[in-house]
Amino acid sequence: MAYQWPLRDFLEYGALPSAVPSARLHARQIAWEWGLSALGENVELLVSELMTNGIAAARAIEPISPVRLWLLADTTRILILVWDANPHPPAPAHADEYAESGRGLLLVQALSQRWGSYPTLQMGGKAVWALCRANTGHANTERNRGA
Ligand SMILES: Nc1ncnc2c1ncn2[C@@H]1O[C@H](COP(=O)(O)OP(=O)(O)O)[C@@H](O)[C@H]1O
Ligand SMILES: [Mg+2]
Repeated sequence: MAYQWPLRDFLEYGALPSAVPSARLHARQIAWEWGLSALGENVELLVSELMTNGIAAARAIEPISPVRLWLLADTTRILILVWDANPHPPAPAHADEYAESGRGLLLVQALSQRWGSYPTLQMGGKAVWALCRANTGHANTERNRGA
């Protein structure tokens, strides 16, 4: 894990709606610090959707526990993991359904290279993750051109 993802960041948030914009801004800043601003916009949206779901899931069970966000990266990719204490797995809607809700995970699917979830046996609950990589070339290309 440490070998595959040399850049790592972790934050824990109270399960409050205000954690979403806070996590989103944090992710943008971290992507910039890691020289991966090209991924910043997608990472922000992914963090926003996964944190929104994680907070709702955490608030649905007693006692309400915090939501954890990990950002892991190498030179071209950022892996987002959001943990919450609710054991229920995410349930994406079907793309052809005319529902008002259930669109968040479709967006996650569209913006990520891969996504998924797995139960975290020791901590309880589960982690939902999404992998984000630059569409073309190296994520640092813009910065390198400017140098
Ligand atoms: N972290 C999660 N824990 C438990 N259930 C989840 C989680 N994320 C998503 N889900 C389930 O999957 C459904 C679809 O999620 P999503 O596509 O984000 O739509 P919405 O959040 O608008 O319902 C949610 O309604 C919820 O039932
Ligand atoms: Mg959602």
